[in-house]
Amino acid sequence: MTDLTALREEVKSKLAEVRDSQALEEIRVFYLGRKGKVANLFRELGSVPEAERPRFGQALNKLKEFVEAQIRQKEESFGTKTTRIDSVFDSTLPGVRPRIGGLHPITQTIREISDIFLRLGFEIVDGREIETEFYNFTALNIPLDHPSRDAFDTFYTTRGHLLRSQTSTVQIREMENRKPPLRIIAPGRVYRPDEVDASHSFMFHQIEGLMVDDRATFSDLKGVIHLFLRKLFGKNIQMRFKPHFFPFTEPSVDVDISWGKAWLEILGAGQVDPAVFEAVGYNPKKVQGFAFGLGVERIAMLKYGIKDIRLFYENDLRFLRQF
Ligand code: PHE
Repeated sequence: MTDLTALREEVKSKLAEVRDSQALEEIRVFYLGRKGKVANLFRELGSVPEAERPRFGQALNKLKEFVEAQIRQKEESFGTKTTRIDSVFDSTLPGVRPRIGGLHPITQTIREISDIFLRLGFEIVDGREIETEFYNFTALNIPLDHPSRDAFDTFYTTRGHLLRSQTSTVQIREMENRKPPLRIIAPGRVYRPDEVDASHSFMFHQIEGLMVDDRATFSDLKGVIHLFLRKLFGKNIQMRFKPHFFPFTEPSVDVDISWGKAWLEILGAGQVDPAVFEAVGYNPKKVQGFAFGLGVERIAMLKYGIKDIRLFYENDLRFLRQF
């Protein structure tokens, strides 16, 4: 019985020192838990002489109630403190804004360009990054001895595949699977084993465009490109078509835009070569079309005044947060 009185005092003095609900919980477990001090005393009840047992049992129950009451009281004292904090909490203060990411500038540029072509009735399609020589070269009328087929200019796998070096592959894949009329653009990554520097990367993005119909003339091409460039760079942009050569278009052009006092090359384009139509099973006497291909990084660099292409791939947040 003296033990029980001592225990009471012990609980009291321990609780007096408790400052937070975690410490309080520890005390609760220590005394009232399944293996706590009080439970142990109940277990000893059996070894108490029978005559004493009822009195001891009663005293134990009292002790238990006492400890429970003390702990509850302490708990409530914390409770009132919490309400006091609640009453100074100003729910009208702005919250902590969670940091969210944004779209990569290349993705943004692809979307901006795609939106313009969507409004012109083009549809966005997807291609493959791992390709065969047929889709990257042969069907595009690129002869076997063409320098772009060289391993210096294309990444080959050991099992006869390659990483596409241009999105023109998608022209072939789409025409093979569909009948004209066709108005598509195909954004995506391309790969070339170039030495990396401020204007070269072994991977970059292109957007391919293709329109095929019974009549899709060179002046249609010119109109579409002009509309596109004015939408992207503003009404005052000037463009210039220069004769060029691509194996898969005839005639072919390089398109320049006016940039301050300079002309900058911005895309390649031309009328789909009859040999390409033949490769996909279209009758070149019945269909006509034009194609173009542009470099996304180059356009993004011009638009945002970025001087080094490597910045796009370094994932430096100081760079990326600016978009
Ligand atoms: N595929 C060409 C390149 O990568 C661009 C192009 C596409 C030119 C379509 C004409 C027509 O340089």
